[in-house]
Amino acid sequence: MKARIYFFTGTGNSMRAARVIAGALKDTEIISMRGNPEEYPATDCDVVGFVYPVYHWTMPAPAAAFVEKLEINPKAYVFVVAMPSFICGIACERLAEILAKKGAEISYGSIVHSVANYAIVYPPFPSARLRVPATERKLKRIAADICRRKERACPRASTFIRRRRDQVMTPYIELQKYADNPFTVSEKCVSCGLCSRVCPCHNIVLENGRPVFQHHCVNCMACVVSCPKRAIGYEIKGEDRTLLEASSRKTPLVRLMGLPEKRKLYMNPYITAKDLTKEKE
Ligand SMILES: Cc1cc2nc3c(=O)[nH]c(=O)nc-3n(C[C@H](O)[C@H](O)[C@H](O)COP(=O)(O)O)c2cc1C
Ligand code: SF4
Ligand code: SF4
Repeated sequence: MKARIYFFTGTGNSMRAARVIAGALKDTEIISMRGNPEEYPATDCDVVGFVYPVYHWTMPAPAAAFVEKLEINPKAYVFVVAMPSFICGIACERLAEILAKKGAEISYGSIVHSVANYAIVYPPFPSARLRVPATERKLKRIAADICRRKERACPRASTFIRRRRDQVMTPYIELQKYADNPFTVSEKCVSCGLCSRVCPCHNIVLENGRPVFQHHCVNCMACVVSCPKRAIGYEIKGEDRTLLEASSRKTPLVRLMGLPEKRKLYMNPYITAKDLTKEKE
């Protein structure tokens, strides 16, 4: 039996989930979706897993792009574990849609509610002290199900969430193209390059020792929480701010955006910044 789990992560929740499930399955490769899908085809795998956070009520765009290009054994037992903080939306259905085009189906799907990590918008919640142990317990149950090759329907969004998604999330998704414009790097930066190595989107290059953002960011928060000097801040100015406020009607979320350097940050306690730099385990 050959098993492989593909994961996308910003702050480690999904990597931790991949590790827990791989540990139970044994002899399972873990591949980060930051790599090239052509290098890691799943054509000879009997068990294939996908684990990722939820962004804006759907699957993160880089994870979707990775799976679009991935070759997969259509007869494999395929599972998905989505790791939202609260609302999963269409994150699992989106994967099912992509896999269907390849003739593959999801045999088992589950949602694991995790600590919300969007540090530029809010401090982490619920408290990691309470939520991480609950997450770990659920992951163990899921891992046991997967070891038994249990079948479980792919989670679907409610009609209410499906209807509201366009209204509530489209402005934020639209603004993704400007996602890294507001990043600032303070004088505390020591040019260590860690932010560049942890970025799952290869979005940061060091120029003259300074991080420069390349405009294909998904706001995963890996660079913000990994910087050993807390040198990465976020400040929405000028046109971006006007656009965001206009498109989201000055929601409380917009008023909160900014200031991660002064805020409590979240990184999964079982994962280190060094782990985030890895392409496979
Ligand atoms: C850009 C962004 C968008 C997010 N959107 C959602 C969302 O729509 N629903 C939700 O429940 N959580 C959302 N979250 C929270 C993450 O999905 C959650 O914290 C996840 O466990 C992080 O996983 P990771 O540590 O593997 O990156 C969002 C986080 C970020 C950074
Ligand atoms: S991780 Fe922080 S200190 Fe290191 S290069 Fe990036 S911004 Fe500078
Ligand atoms: S630049 Fe930072 S926030 Fe944007 S994708 Fe890379 S690590 Fe994530």
